Amino acid sequence: MSLRDRFRRSATGSQITVPTPEAEPANGRPQQVAPTAFDEYQELKRRLHREMIGKLNMALLEGLDENGRRDQVESVARRLLSDSELRLTRSDEERLIQELLHDTFDLGPITPFLLDEEISDILVNTHRQVYVERLGRLEMTPVQFRDDAHLRLIIDRIISRVGRRIDESSPLVDARLPDGSRVNAIIPPAALDGPILSIRRFRRKALSIENLLELGSLTEPMARLLRGTIRARINMLITGGTGSGKTTLLNILSRYIPEGERIVTIEDSAELQLQQPHVVRLETRPPNIEGRGMITQRDLVRNALRMRPDRIVVGEVRGDEVLDMLQAMNTGHDGSLTTIHSNGPRDALHRLENLVLMAGHSLPDKAIREQVASALQVVVHVSRISDGSRKVLSISEITGMEGPVVTMQEIFRFTRTGTRADGKVEGRYEATGVVPHFADQVRLAGTDLTGIFERGNGR
Ligand SMILES: Nc1ncnc2c1ncn2[C@@H]1O[C@H](COP(=O)(O)OP(=O)(O)OP(=O)(O)O)[C@@H](O)[C@H]1O
Ligand SMILES: [Mg+2]
Repeated sequence: MSLRDRFRRSATGSQITVPTPEAEPANGRPQQVAPTAFDEYQELKRRLHREMIGKLNMALLEGLDENGRRDQVESVARRLLSDSELRLTRSDEERLIQELLHDTFDLGPITPFLLDEEISDILVNTHRQVYVERLGRLEMTPVQFRDDAHLRLIIDRIISRVGRRIDESSPLVDARLPDGSRVNAIIPPAALDGPILSIRRFRRKALSIENLLELGSLTEPMARLLRGTIRARINMLITGGTGSGKTTLLNILSRYIPEGERIVTIEDSAELQLQQPHVVRLETRPPNIEGRGMITQRDLVRNALRMRPDRIVVGEVRGDEVLDMLQAMNTGHDGSLTTIHSNGPRDALHRLENLVLMAGHSLPDKAIREQVASALQVVVHVSRISDGSRKVLSISEITGMEGPVVTMQEIFRFTRTGTRADGKVEGRYEATGVVPHFADQVRLAGTDLTGIFERGNGR
């Protein structure tokens, strides 16, 4: 029976039920729905929304606080519903009102996803298609926005809350929400098929090394080595693709920096959560609407050097701050940490080199590589593999230079052995048998490494 039929029936007095699964998620868990019922429900909601906007006293609303506004909208919505000939069950009425409130004040149909702790990413690819990542897996949802204008309204709402603007002349915006979530929006003409919105949720309960061990992201010997390198002030580079877990690992490992040290953190979007008492946090700033006032990572790295830091933690190197960062690592700020986007440890070194070249420093290639080789001692590569899990795929040591080439040796690696029928990746972690040159430094700093480098040791 179509929704319209049900409504017709309702006119005769019998109760109707709004088709539950179809429209927007109940409890944030949408299910597949028949498109017609979905369209009709959207149509009903659109009509109510329009009527509601028409009836609301906007001037009055402006003067109210958040709760007052909600009450006002709710009472208008209830009046509209009771005036109409619709007979909804109590729970359907509640749901419709909730959805109207979401549309009016929150982030529209995706609001429930923001309340769902299991969801880490919300990816709106045009108004008709919304994906979420839940527990490491991407899934398509039946959620849709009414049209481009509706999605655009929600994007404007998100972005204006943090004092930013998006329009045809600057169609890309990267912003951080007050709760720490990261938002990227892109609209036409840069987006060809309509506005696009990507939200990376901020995880309220940060992951710990124990969680990573439970999740199978690394093994106990690997964790011990990484903790030890932090305590021993070994300079570290964490590498990996987008969303592979670089920042998460950086956060976890930074917690092992001893409390007595002065740490300066530098980031584009404040994601680092260091717990030590002596942390100074710096964040870049985009230019304002007149195009002025930009503060870059390079400005901040240079400034940090004048702040007498013991260690510098840069969230992600991605631009012309790279050479300053390498020089800082080479000049007494041992134990500095950073991440870089890359496909593997070797690729990461190329990228560092390229960043230096792109920044316009006129250094010979070999000199750049020497800077890289002497600045960094350990490279940790993470990846989001095909079953959605994140793993530390390799821990390598940078050993120096041979001729023009930076030399590396792998200490631990993950070897994939197969894929189960359900898509789960099978594999094992193992020590390669190589004992890193910095092993003594780590031991001297108080970490027992007995037996962990024995070839094949994976547990
Ligand atoms: N080992 C892990 N197991 C499960 N989930 C993880 C793991 N590490 C990170 N995550 C989750 O994966 C998502 C991406 O993590 P994170 O932000 O650390 O990645 P990233 O590589 O820094 O991404 P970006 O390239 O966007 O900076 C987050 O939701 C995070 O909570
Ligand atoms: Mg990151």
